[in-house]
Amino acid sequence: MKHFVSVDNLDETKVLELIKRAQYFKNGGQINLNRAVYCVNMFFEDSTRTHTSFEMAERKLGLNVLSFDPKQSSVNKGETLYDTLLTMDALGVDLAVIRHAENEYYQELITPSADKTLDIGILNGGDGSGQHPSQCLLDLLTIYEEFGKFAGLKIAIVGDITNSRVAKSNMELLHRLGAKLFFSGPKYWYSEAFERYGEYRPLDELVAEIDVLMLLRVQHERHQGDQNELVFSPTKYHQEFGLTKERYQKLKADAIIMHPGPINRDVEFASELVESKKSRFKAQMQNGVFMRMAMLEQVLKDRGLGGENK
Ligand code: CP
Repeated sequence: MKHFVSVDNLDETKVLELIKRAQYFKNGGQINLNRAVYCVNMFFEDSTRTHTSFEMAERKLGLNVLSFDPKQSSVNKGETLYDTLLTMDALGVDLAVIRHAENEYYQELITPSADKTLDIGILNGGDGSGQHPSQCLLDLLTIYEEFGKFAGLKIAIVGDITNSRVAKSNMELLHRLGAKLFFSGPKYWYSEAFERYGEYRPLDELVAEIDVLMLLRVQHERHQGDQNELVFSPTKYHQEFGLTKERYQKLKADAIIMHPGPINRDVEFASELVESKKSRFKAQMQNGVFMRMAMLEQVLKDRGLGGENK
C-alpha cells in the first residue's frame, strides 16, 4: 500500500492487522523511522477531527509536519491539484493527507504514467461523497473493541446516506466482513444502489434489534439543488429519524451508538445523549488518532520509510 485512499482492497486479515497495530499504538507503541520523514495535510474541505487527528498521529509517530492552508495557496491562482502535489514532491515531502470535494480526486495522483514523475504517498482524508477510509477504520476499531467481531452484528446506518462518504466506506467494508446491515432515514437520501449491502427498514422497527446504531450527519453543504433542503425541518427530522430519548430506551442493553461528527445536536442525536452510556462518539474520536497511526505506518512501511518497532 504505497497509498491509502479507499477501503476497496481491504480484507478481514488486513483490517484485523490494522486494528492490532492501532491497539499497539493505543498502548504507547512506537515505530522506527529509517530517515527524517516529512508530511503535509492538505484539507480543501473543512475539518476538525480528521485534520487534527492525522496531525496528532503524525506527531506521535515522529514525522515532520508541514503546514498548508489552501486559502493562502497558489491553488487560488489556478494551480492544479496535481501541480500542487508535484511541488510538495519536489520540496521533499513524503506523504500527503488530502481532503477534497471531488470524488476520487486521488486517481490522477496515484496512477503511474510514463510521462509523470509524481511520487508521494497519498492518504485520503475524504473525497466528496466517495470514501472516508480513516473514519471507517476508526469506526471498525471502536466496534471491534466492543464486540470482538463483525460477522453477524446487526448494524443500522441512518440518515443522509446518499451524501455520506462515511456511509459508503462503512457499508462496503462491514458488508465484506459479514455484518448484517440495515439502512434507515429519509427515503429521499436513500438509493437502491445500497440494496446490495443491506435492507431499508423504518427506524422504529430497528432500534430494539440492532447492536450498533450508526447515525450520519445531515450534510447541508452537499444539498445545493436538493428540493428537500428547502423544506428541511430540524425538529421534524429529529422526531422521524433522530436518536430521541424514547428510541434510546428501546435499544438493547449492550447496543452502542456511533456518529462520525460533527453532530447537528438535537437533529441526528438528542443533545443530552451525546455523552450517554451507550454513546461511543468520544471513543471514536480517541480511536481515530491510533487508527490513523496504523494507516500512516502501513504507507511508511510500503515506501521503505520505517515501521514496526517490536
Ligand atoms: N468525521 C469527520 O470527518 O469529521 P471532520 O469533518 O471534523 O474531519
